[in-house]
Amino acid sequence: MKLLIINGPNLNLLGVREPDIYGKKDFAALEAFIREVCAAEGIDCELFQSNHEGAIVDKIQSALGRFDGIVINPAAYTHTSVAILDALKAVALPAVEVHLSDVSAREEFRHISYAGLACEKTFMGLGFDGYKEAILYLKRRD
Ligand code: DQA
Repeated sequence: MKLLIINGPNLNLLGVREPDIYGKKDFAALEAFIREVCAAEGIDCELFQSNHEGAIVDKIQSALGRFDGIVINPAAYTHTSVAILDALKAVALPAVEVHLSDVSAREEFRHISYAGLACEKTFMGLGFDGYKEAILYLKRRD
């Protein structure tokens, strides 16, 4: 099985960015963690991070016929992007939403998730482990 793992804006600044909320480990550590989980499960993965909404839409579109599922942390675009929602619906691959923090316990504007409307599951507030749960979920449903 082959999974596409997408991380949205500002996640490249993990470790520097609001460490009380997102933790002290950096983005390279997150990518290494995801690769380790996939390797242990015998899953091929491609990791993609972008600060640009259109680039994320392009990447989702390119997944059609190439991947068996998508794990996505759209970051701030979670709460604003109908374009990412529509792209996920268009390719109709099984998708799982991840947030490092518990967005349901934060500001009101973070309670809305457009991307989540096209996802089978959401894992939030689990830090890096949320990505592991998402990967294991997609493996189990395969
Ligand atoms: C986030 C939560 C979002 O509200 C925020 O804009 C992010 C990161 C998370 O992983 O907790 O950038 O998606």
